[in-house]
Amino acid sequence: MKLWGGRFLKEESSEAAAFTHSFGFDIRLARQDVLGSLAHARMLARQGILTQGEGAQLESALTQILGEVELGEAPFDPASEDIHSAVEMLLRERLGDVAGKLHTARSRNDQVVTDLRLWLKEQVAEVDRLLLGFQAVLAVRAEEHQDTILPGFTHLQHAQPVPLAHHLLAYFWMLERDRGRLADCLRRMDLCPLGSGALAGTGFPIDRHFTAEELGFSGPTLNSLDTIADRDFVVEFLGFAALLMAHLSRLAQEITLWAAPEFGFVELDDAYATGSSIMPQKKNPDVAELVRGKSGRVYGHLLGLLAVLKGLPLAYNSDLQEDKEGLFDTVDTLTGALTAFTGMIATARFRADAMERAAALGYSNATDVADFIAWQGVPFRQAHEITGRLVVACVDSGRRLEEMGTEELRAFWDGFPDGYRVPDARASAAARSSFGGTSPERVREQLSAAAALLPPDTLTDARARVNG
Ligand code: ARG
Repeated sequence: MKLWGGRFLKEESSEAAAFTHSFGFDIRLARQDVLGSLAHARMLARQGILTQGEGAQLESALTQILGEVELGEAPFDPASEDIHSAVEMLLRERLGDVAGKLHTARSRNDQVVTDLRLWLKEQVAEVDRLLLGFQAVLAVRAEEHQDTILPGFTHLQHAQPVPLAHHLLAYFWMLERDRGRLADCLRRMDLCPLGSGALAGTGFPIDRHFTAEELGFSGPTLNSLDTIADRDFVVEFLGFAALLMAHLSRLAQEITLWAAPEFGFVELDDAYATGSSIMPQKKNPDVAELVRGKSGRVYGHLLGLLAVLKGLPLAYNSDLQEDKEGLFDTVDTLTGALTAFTGMIATARFRADAMERAAALGYSNATDVADFIAWQGVPFRQAHEITGRLVVACVDSGRRLEEMGTEELRAFWDGFPDGYRVPDARASAAARSSFGGTSPERVREQLSAAAALLPPDTLTDARARVNG
């Protein structure tokens, strides 16, 4: 049953087994474990460490197990210590003693970290695909709402009006940085640990370049001690995930606010909202709330692994087994969050009318007045002061700035020319044409920069999704 019985005179207690075994969760690495074993077996035969016949036997039995794993039908013993033991036991049942040769020049220590890197590389590709899909939906919704104006906020007070396109694209660029971090962590993840042995390599004439290439890595790692002890690639992925969840949770919070009747900026599609068991009128933004809430567990996993690694001596320690569950949960959380959130944003009805009504309130065009006065040569500080007094007068009389006639305005500053009117929210947004600003041509520039980053089929899918 065990991979290490010889030195022991007693059976492991069931309590110790229940506490230490990882098979319950590392079974998720079954495919990668078998792939690693296949590459290792091929290499051993190629190098003459095993005979060609032994290599062929191992390869054929492992290929069969791989097929079973892919169908979810591999008859692993659930009492196995870990996935590595489970695969080896199955191999022994089928091949007898030859199975015992597979572990030549290998340790579970280099095996587990090879499995984990292989697994995470696949997940990175999937997460990146989901990120691109979400970016495409944001770009399509932005395209649609170039002319929808809402109040931009600072301190959650009306600040300056912005097009909804600009607001949505803000998230596009956050996700673009997330993709950059993901690609960066993939680069360092893409080195193969196999052949590092327990911690110090091996005297067998193995070929690490061959196994690295077989497994699709860009090459082998350089220092066996570092390789066995290293979980930086998991920390980096969790760091990427934590920041991505921060971004998603900010949008989640905005959607939650916007869906409240006091804002009324968005109406969620019934398919992406939930009801209340007691209050028949309720339509809750559950997806957004849970994305916001689930960011907590992802931050927890990042901090949890950092705490596991802190002060851990080289090289392998069983503490490292704690790297997996948090990572698995993070990947599941990200995948679920991105998928549901993308659907929610694709189908949400943005209420241009409510946004524009709100944009007309709160004096968010006051900066335009101050800017106009400053353009006439008045120091900006003075222009700010004049406009401030004007706003107080409007607040007192319950009027909007753009309702003020030239004569009324001249009571505050006599330089207003004939016919001057304070621009409304749309004109205010249109006037801010600095690079990266809110004017229609700047937003169009941004949209084409965004579209250029997306594969055409992703963009086509997003269009179908939003319009279908
Ligand atoms: N289950 C272990 C882990 O997840 C596999 C490596 C075990 N190595 C050992 N020497 N006990 O890290």
